[in-house]
Amino acid sequence: MRASDIIYRKREGEALRREEIEFFISGYAAGQVPDYQAAALAMAVFFRGMTAEETVWLTEAMMRTGEVLDFADLDGPKADKHSTGGVGDKTSLILAPLAAACGVYVPMISGRGLGHTGGTLDKLESIPGFRVGLSLEEFRRVLRRSKLGLIGQTPEIAPADRKLYALRDVTSTVESRPLIAASIMSKKMAEGIDALVLDVKTGDGAFMKAFEDSKALAEAMLAIGKGMGRKVVALITDMDQPLGRTAGNALEVVECVETLKGRGPKDLESLSIELAAWMLQLTGVTTRIEAARFKVREALSSGAGLRKFQEVIELQGGDPRVCDDPGTLPRARERVDVPAPHDGRVARLGCRALGHAAMLLGAGRERVESRIDPAVGIVFHKKVGDLVIAGEPVMTLHVNDRSRLAEARELCLGALKVAPEAPSPAPLIKAVLEA
Ligand code: URA
Repeated sequence: MRASDIIYRKREGEALRREEIEFFISGYAAGQVPDYQAAALAMAVFFRGMTAEETVWLTEAMMRTGEVLDFADLDGPKADKHSTGGVGDKTSLILAPLAAACGVYVPMISGRGLGHTGGTLDKLESIPGFRVGLSLEEFRRVLRRSKLGLIGQTPEIAPADRKLYALRDVTSTVESRPLIAASIMSKKMAEGIDALVLDVKTGDGAFMKAFEDSKALAEAMLAIGKGMGRKVVALITDMDQPLGRTAGNALEVVECVETLKGRGPKDLESLSIELAAWMLQLTGVTTRIEAARFKVREALSSGAGLRKFQEVIELQGGDPRVCDDPGTLPRARERVDVPAPHDGRVARLGCRALGHAAMLLGAGRERVESRIDPAVGIVFHKKVGDLVIAGEPVMTLHVNDRSRLAEARELCLGALKVAPEAPSPAPLIKAVLEA
């Protein structure tokens, strides 16, 4: 077999065989297939696509270039959630402790964020002392103790994807549905989970802006999950305005703690409950989704979810006092309000621009090597549909470095539309797709 023949066949629009995909991907991971051939194949896939079968084989091949965790020794079901990401999307820090408190093991391996605000790891790292870089052995120990572990991508998990994703980033081949689906699923399927809940965002602040594109990506990932014998469900959820009331790492941790205390914003609380409920339902902890929702709500109102979060923070070296005293988290030096230009209702909170503004303040990364400031970000006092009076703060920017403040504030002003009438609120969960 030759890599160039495989590239040729894909370029001509043919479907590849399983052995060809395995040969190419294992060779790429081992350094026998060079970057330029992998880039050529990625571009051929970008234009020619892949069948559902090829996409499953690609996922399996990438997964098998690394360690596939086996938690068969754990005495319960294992599940995780993946989100395609958006502004203020912090549900992981809420649903993971809730699901664990309800009896599901959650071995969560997350990424860092690029653009927008930080990823789950960046949020966790704003907690003083919290270690996301546990070895796989430490991860197992934490998981066994508390049913929950939260770590970063390790070099042992799907190394072919790590290499290929970096290559796609610089060869304009990221936006290919089979490549995205296989990339996400190769990492999640390596976690040794029985079930996966996908939160596929749609709208202005999402990776996929159009509902149909988000649905097609969700379907591709569902087909992979099914092809690999896992239980998977996908929720397509709104990202036309930020989720919850904050964007920025430490600010989001405070909001998650508040939500686990039953004092969170309704949109964030209800989506976190729904995603956690599906983790219970798919793993057979409950037989009906209504029962799963009830159980998760109980874990929230009893404080069991909060205690679980506190426990995992402590086990991973973090300061659990963040759950009692937000003052233990980093705080920005300055607050700058963005006022309503006139009376009316908030008709738009342009999510993409607000994510960009948060990034300019230092809450997200412009480049892979950029450093995040955990303290900064944006607090949203109003959501779409809320009444405002002229001059009232709609948002507050939490600022340390003023160098890009003017630009960030301009973006926020441009993202805000106040009108006599607001559009009727979009449903937060737009569709639930089962495999
Ligand atoms: N996230 C991933 O992990 N991979 C992609 O290809 C796109 C988003």
